[in-house]
Amino acid sequence: MAILVLGGAGYIGSHTVYELVDAGRDVVVVDNLLTGFRQAVHPKARFYQTDIRDRAALDKVFQTESIEGVIHFAASSQVGESMSDPLKYYDNNLYGTTVLLQSMVANGVKHIVFSSTAATYGEPERVPILEDDPTHPTNCYGETKLAMEHMMRWVSGAHDLHYVALRYFNACGAHPSGQIGEAHDPETHLIPIILQAAAGTREAVSIFGDDYPTRDGTCVRDYIHVTDLAQAHILALDYLLRGGENNVFNLGNGVGFTVKEVVEAARTITGQPITANLSPRRSGDPAQLVASSEKAKTVLGWKPQYADLNVILSTAWAWHKNHPNGFEG
Ligand code: UFG
Repeated sequence: MAILVLGGAGYIGSHTVYELVDAGRDVVVVDNLLTGFRQAVHPKARFYQTDIRDRAALDKVFQTESIEGVIHFAASSQVGESMSDPLKYYDNNLYGTTVLLQSMVANGVKHIVFSSTAATYGEPERVPILEDDPTHPTNCYGETKLAMEHMMRWVSGAHDLHYVALRYFNACGAHPSGQIGEAHDPETHLIPIILQAAAGTREAVSIFGDDYPTRDGTCVRDYIHVTDLAQAHILALDYLLRGGENNVFNLGNGVGFTVKEVVEAARTITGQPITANLSPRRSGDPAQLVASSEKAKTVLGWKPQYADLNVILSTAWAWHKNHPNGFEG
């Protein structure tokens, strides 16, 4: 039986495929390659260039392959874009998931693990954030991910389908082999932008606001290595395959770093001066997002291996140094 990874050519999806293959699992990847990269797909995975909104094509994958469970990363994930083009997020994230669940139900596939996000919480009332804290997304991206969680719950109530939602905090780092890593176009995430400034492909990093109520005035985030996220997906799928109930888990390290602290750590790791300029706040950024991941540790047995920020930055730097233009070279 194989595991179907939707969005397996994207950043977190491709790293999960690598971990699955390393664990000896049979893997099938579906990706429309709009933001993912064919080169990121592990050579041992069977690849279908398919959009999850294409019901006939998805049905064909389920009928051709023998799928025991689905890991679903296929979604749009840029907060800023979700505010300027919300319908794209409703279409790709919500409609895409609707079609996927229709196809899973029709083809008798019962288990799904999917990417949710800390953006489902919005501005937290307390940190570290627990899974049953209030969810009031402040952007359309988080809103569609929360709606996907709700969709799974209702569908699960009506059909024999079981889900785990994984709410990631700030995904970062790269595969320790240096073969795959983070590549977005345009890049909006802090760590790759800092490393582009270190590599000289960008002049400087802008620090978005230094008047937040935090220890140095810049935003605090919980940075979690992509390989640790990948492992959590495998644990979550195995939990469902063992008969685990529907569940939601935070995935983070439980430690927050400010933007200035991340820049400083990157200066040390790269040995480069990295120019940082102060800019106005970016709209929609909560001051602090830090996870409590105790539930994932207790229920799934998750143990992050790359929790140290210096290790996270070192793996990301190894990838960026050798791939200054991402998968293009
Ligand atoms: N930042 C800068 N300069 C930059 C880029 C980012 O100062 O050039 C700051 C941001 O303001 C934020 C922090 O660095 O305070 C991290 O920003 P990222 O864009 O790297 O990540 P976000 O915290 O905004 O977003 C991440 C994921 C989203 C997810 C969100 C959950 O990328 O998909 O966490 O809140 F929704």
